[in-house]
Amino acid sequence: MSSNESLENLLKEERRFAPPAELAAAANVTAAAYQEAKEDRLAFWAEQARRLSWSTEPTETLDWSNPPFAKWFADGELNVAYNCVDRHVEAGHGDRVAIHFEGEPGDSRAITYAQLKDEVSKAAHALTELGIEKGDRVAVYLPMIPEAAVAMLACARIGAAHSVVFGGFSAEAVASRVQDADAKLVITADGGYRRGKPTALKPAIDEAVLSCPTVQHVLVVRRTGQETAWTEGRDVWWDEITSRQSTEHTPVPHNAEHPLFILYTSGTTGKPKGILHTTGGYLTQASYTHHAVFDLKPETDVYWCTADIGWVTGHSYIVYGPLANGATQVMYEGTPDTPHQGRFWEIIQKYKVTLLYTAPTAIRTFMKWGDDIPAKFDLSSLRILGSVGEPINPEAWIWYREHIGAGKTPIVDTWWQTETGAMMISPLPGVTHTKPGSAQTPLPGISATVVDDEANEVPDGGGGYLVLTEPWPSMLRTIWGDDQRYLETYWSRFGAGHEGSGSDKWTYFAGDGAKKDEDGDLWLLGRVDDVMLVSGHNISTTEVESALVSHPKVAEAAVVGATDATTGQAIAAFVILRGSAKDNEDLVAELRNHVAKVLGPIAKPKLIQLVSELPKTRSGKIMRRLLRDIAEGRAVGDTTTLADSTVMDLIQSQRSAGD
Ligand code: WT7
Repeated sequence: MSSNESLENLLKEERRFAPPAELAAAANVTAAAYQEAKEDRLAFWAEQARRLSWSTEPTETLDWSNPPFAKWFADGELNVAYNCVDRHVEAGHGDRVAIHFEGEPGDSRAITYAQLKDEVSKAAHALTELGIEKGDRVAVYLPMIPEAAVAMLACARIGAAHSVVFGGFSAEAVASRVQDADAKLVITADGGYRRGKPTALKPAIDEAVLSCPTVQHVLVVRRTGQETAWTEGRDVWWDEITSRQSTEHTPVPHNAEHPLFILYTSGTTGKPKGILHTTGGYLTQASYTHHAVFDLKPETDVYWCTADIGWVTGHSYIVYGPLANGATQVMYEGTPDTPHQGRFWEIIQKYKVTLLYTAPTAIRTFMKWGDDIPAKFDLSSLRILGSVGEPINPEAWIWYREHIGAGKTPIVDTWWQTETGAMMISPLPGVTHTKPGSAQTPLPGISATVVDDEANEVPDGGGGYLVLTEPWPSMLRTIWGDDQRYLETYWSRFGAGHEGSGSDKWTYFAGDGAKKDEDGDLWLLGRVDDVMLVSGHNISTTEVESALVSHPKVAEAAVVGATDATTGQAIAAFVILRGSAKDNEDLVAELRNHVAKVLGPIAKPKLIQLVSELPKTRSGKIMRRLLRDIAEGRAVGDTTTLADSTVMDLIQSQRSAGD
């Protein structure tokens, strides 16, 4: 069946929010940008590249002569660390705070751009002393502390590619990533603070490097001061080696296509893919999108992205985009509920944060904890709120705007991926009339649309697969060491890379389901693997989840399709109630009827189970595969990538209690 025939009666979302007049009047980017980019996309990106300081200005914009292997600004040369640090000091902004660090135990540090320059310079010298050269790979396994950004920038400065591995990953996961990249050095810490106590990091590295013969040294930042095993000759303390280095370091230019970093995406199957990003195009788009989508005014704004540096959001919107733009930002080490559930709001009040970037999973958690918690804090400094990582349910969007944004701040729902490197689809805060739940419009210079199974663009009102139809500056260049997998995964489903397509147009398959509404705005519907087929209708898990969350008693929901003898798949929903809501006998029936009312009877869940937690990956994405195991009465599969491995036992016990 064609995905065009997907459920017609999609969520009807009529609410619209115009940008505040003052914001629109002073916005960094106006509607003219769309027009300019449409007239000449490459000239538009060439102009954005001039946001950066190049040691050799590029004369070429895009080389697409060997698709899908792109080169952007290929004859240009620049240094990323110089762009993120030194040039701001040279421009007289050395005293501006780059990072307000807030440790989980309550310690804090303000680091100016001048200090950051010294730290990055010393770290660059230290890497050189440890034998790291241009072209090498360095693995980074750190908590959310400023040294993580310093380490990344020091690598960029000398031309070594970093591969950051999220600090919550196991020794085994680290080892496979270090091996795949042949990293020569691992930068880690004794530990970090997590949920009110020091959590060791170094033991995982000690175990991992046993199977990583390419690793020559382990560089260890002292954060918690906890007892740490030591291998003489291999292990080096960060403070000891950096403190004796010079604060003067000359940044050398690197070619625009020189590798900047590798970042592994887990994916649901197979070995992790090492997504390769390069220098000039990546920094251009990270910088431009941060400037455009957050309307960043570096003199006055205080920006805070709550992601971890171990994910691409942290790479592009903690390190590279904001620092390239000379932003002042908050960096927070810990969890949102330590020592209390108002910690985020307390931080916003303390630093007078103006721009906040967080994820739907966090927003739904705050909804569950209750409206009264943010209400205790002064959040009036906030002027733009961002969302990333998953589709944001319309009710969570509204809650975010009402309870965090005082019913005034624009919400920018930004769609992108590790692979895209930077934001691709998002409202512009001074331009777009926003719709709760929709990422809406490709950014200026970006071409995205929705196609059906046969690669035909769907009309307004239609649904299918999200595709990107023109190359973009921050696109992945390949999968590290596996060009073939790059081609197969992203470029062979539609367009020129699809055998027998007859098309000469290369089309990137994002793996997400999407629809276009009657205005042509884009709605992201989650990974295509998460679409259910019920009695011959395609129904997206996202839409049923949003319908459930639109009920006042529901904070969060996860929906899966479970094999069903009569309907093919039946909808099973796992629901977390809001803090204030009480379970009662009729509630499940009430919720089922509510979904039927919102989406139509076909989308009514066959089973609804009330639970207290949902299985999530460490980056906050719901692992529907595990819920499907439960709904289909199977033994629960591999749970190693779960953030909290006890959650599945809990859900199972709640299930038997409810039976
Ligand atoms: C996948 C990419 C982008 C940085 C964090 C995640 C989903 C991301 C949105 C959004 C709907 C979204 C997609 C995408 N996603 N942002 N605003 N609306 N879905 O990076 O781990 O590479 O995941 O996250 O499914 O393909 P990632």
